[in-house]
Amino acid sequence: MTDPSAATATTTLAPAQAPDERPYSPGLEGVLAGETSLSRVDGANGRLVYRGYRIGDLVEHGSYAAVANLLWTGAWDPRTRLATAGVPDAVLAVLRALPATTKPMDALRTAVSAWGATRELPWPPTVDDARALTSFSPSALAAFARLRQGKDPVPPDPSLNLVEGFLYQLTGEPADPGTARALDAYFIVGAEHGFNASTFTARVITSTRSDIASAVAGAIGTMKGPLHGGAPSEVVDQLAEVGSVDRAEAWIREALAKGERLMGFGHRVYRAYDPRAAALRKVAESMEHKPEWLQLAIEVEDVALRILKEKHPERVLQTNVEYYAAPVLQGVGLSPDLFPATFSLARHAGWTAHVLEQAADNRLIRPDVRYIGPEERDLPVG
Ligand code: COA
Repeated sequence: MTDPSAATATTTLAPAQAPDERPYSPGLEGVLAGETSLSRVDGANGRLVYRGYRIGDLVEHGSYAAVANLLWTGAWDPRTRLATAGVPDAVLAVLRALPATTKPMDALRTAVSAWGATRELPWPPTVDDARALTSFSPSALAAFARLRQGKDPVPPDPSLNLVEGFLYQLTGEPADPGTARALDAYFIVGAEHGFNASTFTARVITSTRSDIASAVAGAIGTMKGPLHGGAPSEVVDQLAEVGSVDRAEAWIREALAKGERLMGFGHRVYRAYDPRAAALRKVAESMEHKPEWLQLAIEVEDVALRILKEKHPERVLQTNVEYYAAPVLQGVGLSPDLFPATFSLARHAGWTAHVLEQAADNRLIRPDVRYIGPEERDLPVG
C-alpha cells in the first residue's frame, strides 16, 4: 500500500493534462440540459404552449388557478380554485423585522425561506406542497407591501381565487373584476417558460433532494438579477421619456445612436412576436381602467419596430412580453417596485411544477467544468 505522506512529499509532477476538447457553450446556450413536458417555447415561430395548450387560449379561457393545476397535474379543469393562504406568525415576525427599504424581491425570498423553516417539507415534494407554497407567497408579498407603509396585513379571503385574493390583501378592498382579470392574464403568461435561469436553479436545488422552499427561494434569488427579472418598469420609464408619439422617432433614433436598448424589444429565444406580448396587448386594450399611455405604447411600438428593422436587418427584433406587461401591471395599480416580485409570484406555478417533474425522475445535476488554471505545481514552502 502506498504511504500517502510519501505522495505529498514528492516533487515529481503529474504529466501535463491534455486540453479538454469537449464542446463548451458559454451560458449553456443551445445545450439540452433536461427534458420537460411542461412547456414548449418555440422561438422561431413565436409560439408558447403549456402541456400542449396555446398560451393565447389559456389566457382567453382559463384562470391562473386552472393553469397552475394544469402544470402540476397535467389535467385541465377550468373550474379549479386556488385561494391565497395565511402567513404563519413566525414569517410575519420576520417580515416585520425587515427595514421598510427592503426590496420586495428580497422580502419575498426571505418569506419563502422562513416559510420553509416553519414546516417539515417531505421528499419527494407533492402537489400539495406546490399548492401550499404558491398560495402562501402572494399573501406574504401583500403583507410586506402593507407593513412597509405602516399598515396591518390583511388576512386571506378563502372565497377569492389567487390573483383576486392577492389584490384584496394588497389594498384591503375588493378588486374590480376587470382589474383582477387583467392581472390574472399576466399571471398566466408569466407562469412558465422552459429552462430559464431561475427554473434551472430550482431544478438544480431539487436534484440534491433539497426541499421545495429552498428551490423556490433560490429561484427568486436568480430572478432578482436584472438580466432575468425583466424590466417592465423600465418600459414605463422609457415611455415617460418619449412623452408623445410625435417625439417617438427622434427619441428612439437618439437612444439607439447612443447604443441604448429599447426596453420591451428583442429576446434571446423568440425570433418572432412574443406570443405573451400579443395576449397581454389584447388584455391591456380591453381593460376598463386603461393606463393613459396605453395608446402611446401602441403607437410607439410601431415606430420602434420600424426603426429596429432598419437598424438591424440581420436580426429579428420584435416586441417582447415586458412591453405589454408594463401597461397591465401599471393599469391594475401596482407600484413599479412590486413588478419583479409580482412576476415571481406568477412564476411559482412553473417553478414548483419543475420541482415536481425533477423529483419524479431525479438525477443529481452536476456538470463538468473545463479547468483553465495553472498546471499542477509545487507549493512554495519554507
Ligand atoms: N434595442 C436595441 N437593440 C437591440 C435590442 C433592443 N431592445 N435587443 C437587441 N438589440 C441589438 C443588440 O444591440 C445587438 O446589436 P449589435 O450586434 O449591433 O450589438 C443585436 O441586437 C443582438 O443583441 P444580443 O444582445 O445578442 O441579443 P440577446 O439575444 O442576447 O438579447 C435581450 C436579448 C432581451 C437581452 C435584448 O434583446 C435586450 O436587451 N432587450 C431589451 C431589454 C428587454 O426588453 N428585456 C426583457 C426581455 S423579456
